[in-house]
Amino acid sequence: MLLLPYIVDVDSFCKDPLLVIKNLDVTYAAKGEETAALCGICLEICAKEVVGVLGESGSGKTTLGTAIVGGLPTGSAIKSGLIQLAGVETSSLDEKAWQRIRGRVVSMIWQEPRIALNPVMRVGVQVAEVVRAHNKWSSSKCKDAAMSALTDVHLDAAKIFDAFPHELSGGQCQRVAIAQAIVCNPQLIIADEPTSALDSTVQTGILDLIAELRERTQTAFLLITHNPAILRRLADRILVMNAGRIVEQGGAAEVLAHPSHPYTKKLLESRGKLLQSATFHR
Ligand SMILES: Nc1ncnc2c1ncn2[C@@H]1O[C@H](COP(=O)(O)OP(=O)(O)O)[C@@H](O)[C@H]1O
Ligand SMILES: [Mg+2]
Repeated sequence: MLLLPYIVDVDSFCKDPLLVIKNLDVTYAAKGEETAALCGICLEICAKEVVGVLGESGSGKTTLGTAIVGGLPTGSAIKSGLIQLAGVETSSLDEKAWQRIRGRVVSMIWQEPRIALNPVMRVGVQVAEVVRAHNKWSSSKCKDAAMSALTDVHLDAAKIFDAFPHELSGGQCQRVAIAQAIVCNPQLIIADEPTSALDSTVQTGILDLIAELRERTQTAFLLITHNPAILRRLADRILVMNAGRIVEQGGAAEVLAHPSHPYTKKLLESRGKLLQSATFHR
């Protein structure tokens, strides 16, 4: 059974945050040495919110996303702090409990869709498997749900269901991965550089899809990227990470137009120019 809900601070900025992270420290052990990847991370995400995580390579973005979905690799350790998802403190969940949470409460979209998908399994079956893991449904009902999710990500479901990942383009594979992420209607989706591995011509289509899903499904997103332009378009709030720490956070428009931390200023300047005029969907 899941654990008792963690009691949220009364001064939390929203009443029932979907995700609460407090003072999270994560380390990796390599060659007998322990290195800190995340230091003192504090974060809350409310229902329907899109929170962007901005930072250069190596700043700890993927470690943060992976820690939230309980997927930290061997050799890494949560040294202190807590992660609470939909009222459940996750540190003592076993793998069986995680399987109930992943896909239904929180899903992750990875940077490399071809690595995320099983190369020897038909893509439609891979989406249906997520449904089957969470529901005691017949095969045909699971298949129907998978077909519907593939249609939702604007793939020709009937045509693509029986394809293998190598028969699809990178953009199509990422759409399949997104179909897997949304098929059980999770409350929170972590998207880790969802367009970085794709051709620039395909990137816009995937961002359009994320924007559309956000509006239609009201799912909260943690959108991880090194690209401020993506957050300018999609994020409500932004956290800026450097060397495992959050160095600045605030409303997306404010952070992008008027960064206060020297690291953020440098990061934005290095992308060409400060993003002065931010436009938002909400
Ligand atoms: N599996 C791992 N083993 C050892 N160190 C790792 C591993 N994954 C990441 N790191 C280290 O942790 C830090 C943060 O990495 P990461 O979370 O991947 O950053 P980002 O996603 O922002 O590029 C980096 O210093 C990186 O070298
Ligand atoms: Mg990364």
